[in-house]
Amino acid sequence: MNHKILCVVGTRPEAIKMAPVILALKKNPDIECRILATAQHRDLLDQVLRIFEIEPDIDLDIMRPDQALTALTARLLLSLDDVLQVEKPDAVLAQGDTTTVMSVALACFYREIPFGHVEAGLRTGDMSNPFPEEMNRVVTARLTKWHFAPTESARQNLLKEGIADSDIFVTGNTVIDALLSVAEREIPLPFPLALDKRLILVTAHRRENFGEPFKQICRAILALVERNQDVHVVYPVHPNPNVYDLASQLLGNRPRITLCEPLDYLPFVQIMKRAYLILSDSGGVQEEAPALGKPVLVLRRKTERPEAVQEGVVRLVGADFDEITSTTQRLLDDEAAYKEMARGVSPYGDGKASSRIAAVLRTYFAACV
Ligand code: UD1
Ligand code: UDP
Repeated sequence: MNHKILCVVGTRPEAIKMAPVILALKKNPDIECRILATAQHRDLLDQVLRIFEIEPDIDLDIMRPDQALTALTARLLLSLDDVLQVEKPDAVLAQGDTTTVMSVALACFYREIPFGHVEAGLRTGDMSNPFPEEMNRVVTARLTKWHFAPTESARQNLLKEGIADSDIFVTGNTVIDALLSVAEREIPLPFPLALDKRLILVTAHRRENFGEPFKQICRAILALVERNQDVHVVYPVHPNPNVYDLASQLLGNRPRITLCEPLDYLPFVQIMKRAYLILSDSGGVQEEAPALGKPVLVLRRKTERPEAVQEGVVRLVGADFDEITSTTQRLLDDEAAYKEMARGVSPYGDGKASSRIAAVLRTYFAACV
């Protein structure tokens, strides 16, 4: 008997991190793997699905320009419930901490459909940082049957919240599966990179950084480029208008700063590999860059990914002009300090997380027959 698993993706990082899970599930003849795109992101999501050759079976096309969180959540819940009613899956899987994930977990709860959470147990302990993702994680955990924790510390976070140990599976993070599947693929970059310059890659999109914090980040980038003639900044700008408008205004048309559209995953990985260091408030980049031996200065005060910080290969600098410029400058000037952060460690996985997740579900369904 075939068991139907509905895999839900909404945004770019969810597609990257769910792609290996979907591909692993599709290898099982006893599992019917259906794919639902909420399209909380439109272009960013489509880019990733194309790369991994994943075709959604259902597409809710939810994204609206500059969407507000309440409207997004309400529309997601209604549309997701319609799908669950028709599809009647035996289980649903989603990854991470976006509004899509929290909404699908809740919709499953109301319909009493078991929900599996990929990348469970990440916490900062601060509901406003990251906002609204920490709330999404905490709520999702209450509604989850299978908690696929990427690391032991994520497991400990779940245990502290009273989740039963038997419901937690430490699998590694599926982002490393995705990264390893593409890292060796050389592809032409959309623009040339000067070989005689040190490349600083920047990404930023967190809601708690909108406004003044984001201005400080941009001013710090400008200062670093002005002070260091051998530095070239590449910054693929997130299409959220709260980010895009300020980035264009403050950093557009400057020498040695390349602002570009969000990059497809393959060129983005190639540019990470070429980078001297990375400035980012992204979650996924904090996981991928250490595996590629690239230091990351995180443009946030708190992280739910403490492992790489403890390893000394990721450092928190906040959205603070002085801290961003001084820490980056040290890594540009001090070779020993740089080498210490560019060691290449992979605390988030070994590239086999997805097959572990598929095995848990296979075992569960085998016992149901
Ligand atoms: C969302 C997630 C965040 C995740 C991030 C990954 C929520 C609340 N936020 O943030 O946790 O880290 O995705 O990138 O779930 N837009 C486009 N095209 C796209 C995508 C976005 O134009 O393909 C623009 C739209 O104007 C959209 C806006 O960005 O309204 C915001 O999108 P939204 O999904 O609400 O939040 P993000 O800031 O992208
Ligand atoms: N990424 C990408 N193109 C870009 C920027 C990021 O493919 O221009 C990838 C990156 O490698 C990582 C993921 O997108 O896997 C991170 O997404 P994002 O920063 O949007 O979200 P977060 O991880 O913070 O939720």
